[in-house]
Amino acid sequence: MSKGFFSGLLATLVGLWSFTAISETDGVFDEYRELMGDDNPAIFVIYDGEEIWFTPAGPKSVSLAQCDLGLGPGVVEGAYAQLPRYFSDAQRVQDIEARLEYCMTHLQGRSPDKVRANAYSQRGELGTELEALVAWIADQSSGLTIAPAQAHAKERSAYTLGESLFYYRAGPHDFSCATCHEQTGRRIRLQALPNLTTHQGAAAAYSTWPAYRVSQGIVRTMGWRMRDCMRQQRMPELIMGSEASVALQTYLSVNGAGGSMAAPGLKR
Ligand code: HEC
Repeated sequence: MSKGFFSGLLATLVGLWSFTAISETDGVFDEYRELMGDDNPAIFVIYDGEEIWFTPAGPKSVSLAQCDLGLGPGVVEGAYAQLPRYFSDAQRVQDIEARLEYCMTHLQGRSPDKVRANAYSQRGELGTELEALVAWIADQSSGLTIAPAQAHAKERSAYTLGESLFYYRAGPHDFSCATCHEQTGRRIRLQALPNLTTHQGAAAAYSTWPAYRVSQGIVRTMGWRMRDCMRQQRMPELIMGSEASVALQTYLSVNGAGGSMAAPGLKR
């Protein structure tokens, strides 16, 4: 089929989904956030995450206290803000989830399949270990500058891959991430669609994940956000910690670099 057919179809679909111009901010939800003030229920999850970090677990019955998140074994403060980054022991670029999986399998002796299978809460669950750990670790970077490493060639190629995935159109609707996230001041139904190709948009989004999702009553990670958007895009399921997941997060963190971390955020 011709390219023209697809762009025509896309234009129709986009029209049907009624993107409407709105102001920069998230209106009603911004008001809600203000009302909540510092009362983000994620605080309880943060405490859980810290406890989990220091509790021996897995077949080897060791804690994660010696896990190296990029700033040396056991250093948690500031680590999230510098991810994703290249790890020479793993010989690949990792985001927080890939790195935690690495530590859980290498330090604690757990099976990678099990770690992945239990990464994100299913409907009705109260949060997984991984979600709690990510909440605590991100909180330990709160207020710090987003500064993902880009010195290593593999870090730069993770960015390039993330960028091409962002613009890659596929699936039954021929959508890319850009279809929904390349323009400023748009929304789909009631949800604001951030423009993730600008520094401002990427920084606002990247700095506020992981986030407590009020509609689900749990903390969700940026990896989960990527996976759920892929689902909205009708693409195959994104695997936690995979090269594609890490690349997309690298694209967002580098675009948002210089912004200030404010996670865990509070989302719809
Ligand atoms: C069909 C439209 C659509 C596509 C395609 C899409 N998204 Fe989204 N995205 C959304 C919507 C809607 C939200 C807001 C969800 C909400 O409020 O619950 C969102 C939220 C996000 C957020 C969080 C923004 C914030 O400030 O909290 C990020 C990051 C994101 N998307 C990235 C991506 C990436 C990367 C892709 C491609 C893999 C993608 N999206 C594809 C619709 C889409």
